[in-house]
Amino acid sequence: MKIVTIVGARPQFIKAATVSRIIRANPAVHEILLHTGQHYDENMSEIFFRELGIPLPDYNLEVGSGSHAVQTGLMLKGIEEVLLKEKPDCTLVYGDTNSTLAGALAASKLHIPVAHVEAGLRSFNRAMPEEINRIVTDRISDLLFAPTRTAVINLSQEGLADITCFTGDVMYDSVVYYKERILQNPAKYKTAGIPEKYLLATIHRAENTDNPGNLKNIFLAFSSLNQEIVLPVHPRTRKILQTSPDLPGNVHIIDPVGYLQMLKLTMDATRVLTDSGGLQKEAYFLRKQCITLRSETEWIETLHDHWNIIAGSDPGKIEAAVAGDLPTAPIQEGFGNGKSAGIILEKLLLF
Ligand code: UD1
Ligand code: UDP
Repeated sequence: MKIVTIVGARPQFIKAATVSRIIRANPAVHEILLHTGQHYDENMSEIFFRELGIPLPDYNLEVGSGSHAVQTGLMLKGIEEVLLKEKPDCTLVYGDTNSTLAGALAASKLHIPVAHVEAGLRSFNRAMPEEINRIVTDRISDLLFAPTRTAVINLSQEGLADITCFTGDVMYDSVVYYKERILQNPAKYKTAGIPEKYLLATIHRAENTDNPGNLKNIFLAFSSLNQEIVLPVHPRTRKILQTSPDLPGNVHIIDPVGYLQMLKLTMDATRVLTDSGGLQKEAYFLRKQCITLRSETEWIETLHDHWNIIAGSDPGKIEAAVAGDLPTAPIQEGFGNGKSAGIILEKLLLF
């Protein structure tokens, strides 16, 4: 079976690392890796290939940054050329980025079956570009790998139950697998030059970065927290912060870090504040309370017992969440058993 895996953005490298490791261990499968080039900085792309042992991409389209239409259009053109040349039995796409949409669209128009990992996530907020990408990708895919029962229900409500399979979450597989490696040599993955006790924050969603009011409110809340905050800054956010003169003194901005360093930063943090989808889950898996800097979450399983608090960009809600007690309730199982990638491979082989 020949599979073309299509990735392009940071969280997709992390997800594909886990699935590709399992896929490539099976001699019945030949995987071709296509990188769209959506993310291209060394610390947004290459670092993950290197540290997670992902084979180098067979193709890199190098589309780079651009408006949604320009970026997606360039990807469509490049992906079509590769698919026509490689003639795979199926394509594998991940998550909800423009690379996901372009991969699914190019393949489905060529009648090449599409399998979607992390299908069925819904924020029910169509102002998010990711929501459009998810809805379209799920609708045109042939096999939907749902990470949670909520995702299964969402897909069923859209009439897609027949092609849906609950797999669990490959990001849970990743945390289970790599946490062990970190625990064997914690000093290796520790970030130098940051405070001993800190809150870990990330911000990159369009709703926060492209809305000066929201970003200002988040930093207003940060400045009033009276705690040190470590912020590995996404390049999108860095560009905006470059023109912002007054960053609060308690915010320590660092460059984006590799995945293992990021897991370690999460393990050592008091709490996590983020608008990231992936980091909300990692915080939960690592038993760290998450304060979500968005007005909703797709990962509603994380909300029980205040493990995840939706605060948006409201300073009052952010401050109240950080002032509250840390949760102690057990984490619920809802993301599979850490072997989702194996289930994905099994289903692909039957596809
Ligand atoms: C994209 C995804 C988002 C995902 C995120 C993961 C879409 C619509 N959005 O958002 O769902 O959560 O990736 O991180 O696909 N930039 C650089 N260097 C890079 C990459 C980006 O400088 O290597 C800068 C550019 O100015 C670019 C901006 O970041 O315009 C945004 O990048 P883009 O890939 O369009 O979207 P993300 O915000 O990264
Ligand atoms: N991440 C990382 N280095 C960083 C910031 C995040 O490795 O400096 C990881 C994080 O641990 C998670 C993934 O990137 O696994 C989340 O990606 P991101 O927040 O960019 O996208 P989202 O999940 O919101 O789509």
